[in-house]
Amino acid sequence: MRIDVITIFPGMFDAVLGESIIKLARQKRVVDINIIDLRLFSKDRHRKVDDKPFGGGPGMVMSAEPFFEAVNYIRRRTKDMRLKTRVMLLTPRGSTFNHDMAAKFAAYEHIVLLCGHYEGIDERVRGLVDEEVSIGDFVLTGGELPAMAVIDAVIRLLPGALGNEDSRKDESFSHGTLEYPHYTRPAEYMGKKVPEVLLSGDHEKIKKWRKKESSKVTKKRRPDLIK
Ligand code: ADE
Repeated sequence: MRIDVITIFPGMFDAVLGESIIKLARQKRVVDINIIDLRLFSKDRHRKVDDKPFGGGPGMVMSAEPFFEAVNYIRRRTKDMRLKTRVMLLTPRGSTFNHDMAAKFAAYEHIVLLCGHYEGIDERVRGLVDEEVSIGDFVLTGGELPAMAVIDAVIRLLPGALGNEDSRKDESFSHGTLEYPHYTRPAEYMGKKVPEVLLSGDHEKIKKWRKKESSKVTKKRRPDLIK
């Protein structure tokens, strides 16, 4: 899979994309990620990518042209690869990101993530965009952290990204429920014991217990997940 990110803060991505599972997935060529500086596509002498809002009001609005130029550049660069490209805008106005969307995005060959800033983006940028994505009902200072959250959630679903493919099987949301509790050694810590069944070695019983705990925690914390 190929992921391109268009941002005015390319440096923000260095740490997140250069550590842990994402770093390994890139090394294993499971994913090819390119961070692109929007300012390179500004025609302004000072590399300005924003301007005052028509109609007045506070703050600045990101201009349409650099986004169109940047996406066209990416399309030209990837033309010979004949990838199916989906362009996503990170915005609090988008559909709320969840596990099913992560799985859907993981099946795409190429995604381009546009990170917005300031008061917003010129509405005409939406003409470039296939999907608008929000990571929740709160407003961040820009689309970079949401883009990183989307990239992380998508990459870990790509075949070959995780060391152990089984680790995805029972995790929260994979069956539409939250995950069961985990324990490791010691079997007793500060007077708190690990549930007996987990020490029993009876795999059938353990499976049943985990299923029951998973339903219990989901009912209690996320009743909305239970159809
Ligand atoms: N940009 C600012 N806030 C955001 C959010 N909650 N989701 C996606 N993009 C954003």
